[in-house]
Amino acid sequence: MGIHHAPEISPGIFYVGVKDWNLPLFDVLTPLTRGSSYNSYLVKGERTALLDSTHPGFEEEWAGKVSRVIPLADVDYLVMNHAEPDHAGAIPYFLERNKKAPIVLSEKGAKMASTYFGVPEARLKVVKDGDTIDLGGKTLRFMDAAWLHWPEVIFTYVPENGFLSSCDFFATHSADGLFEDEVEGLQALFKAYWAEILMPFRAFGKKAVERVRMMDVRMIGPSHGPVRRDVKHVLDTYAAWTDGVTRCKATMVYVSMWTHTETMVRSFMEALRREGVEVVAHNLARLDEGELAADLADSRALVLASPSVLGGMHPRAVYGASLVKALKPPVKYAAVLASYGWVKGVGKAVVEALPSGIEVVGTLEVNGPATEGPFSEIDALARKLAARVKSV
Ligand code: FEO
Repeated sequence: MGIHHAPEISPGIFYVGVKDWNLPLFDVLTPLTRGSSYNSYLVKGERTALLDSTHPGFEEEWAGKVSRVIPLADVDYLVMNHAEPDHAGAIPYFLERNKKAPIVLSEKGAKMASTYFGVPEARLKVVKDGDTIDLGGKTLRFMDAAWLHWPEVIFTYVPENGFLSSCDFFATHSADGLFEDEVEGLQALFKAYWAEILMPFRAFGKKAVERVRMMDVRMIGPSHGPVRRDVKHVLDTYAAWTDGVTRCKATMVYVSMWTHTETMVRSFMEALRREGVEVVAHNLARLDEGELAADLADSRALVLASPSVLGGMHPRAVYGASLVKALKPPVKYAAVLASYGWVKGVGKAVVEALPSGIEVVGTLEVNGPATEGPFSEIDALARKLAARVKSV
């Protein structure tokens, strides 16, 4: 796809998004291995509408693509599905070059557009769930999608094409590929995006999936990553994730200073595997937050392990626990491993740092290097956790 190419992905709907191949971290948090894209779609009937804009810094490239179909100044509507700047950051640029098009958004979106982008009141057009705009031969129908991923979010549906502009929902961080079959290893990227961005809002996602299933959706245009034509696959996958379907799997999150904690973790891991539990381990000393989030998305158990530092949790373990808490994974059971030098108590601190609603099946706190006695306790705790995991 040429830099100024604007492919027609469905009759009268053009992809005018931009590719960001070099962004190392999204939200200065999750590493991006394959870049991302800031998708924007132009819907052309007798009148035209842009669905979302772009990330600051990419305005010229975006406008160049739009101008392959229509000059930016002649666009009739700009829909702001979401106020986050990766999609709405080019609104000030748009307003300077287009003096007529209203910015179409939700009521909450209107407040954000004023605060974030200085959109004057006269340019705001607030829409509610079910409202439509007739473009002449094309219709925009708006759907409330609050908390997917911010409270102001809306989806835009074009019934003539069965096209759903779903913003962050159903998105993937990948600069590669216009359509899903052009992206190698898509499913892992798709899952990581779900886990990093939307897993904390599972209940809202579940309702949205159910609603989209009832609609005639034949193509999904998310705001990052490839356009999806296999709608059934996307909905089935999201139905499992939003339902919180877990596997017989444990995710271990740990940090170790003098290998004592790591030895406990490795031993626990082997014991879980002997019991038939799938296990992955993430070392907080070199964490990929996206990979951790993706593993948590379908794990039934969590094991958090920390050495004591000045009588409390290692600061990286505090970070790991806070990340798990924020992501709200569907984990049901937990075990805690801790290693201490001169004072006990870190195990209790780790338990207290875990998200509420997770059943802690046991805590094992060992002084210094694990020896034969603790190893049998590690095995016993692993068997206890495995029994709970397999009981579901
Ligand atoms: Fe891709 Fe919530 O912005």
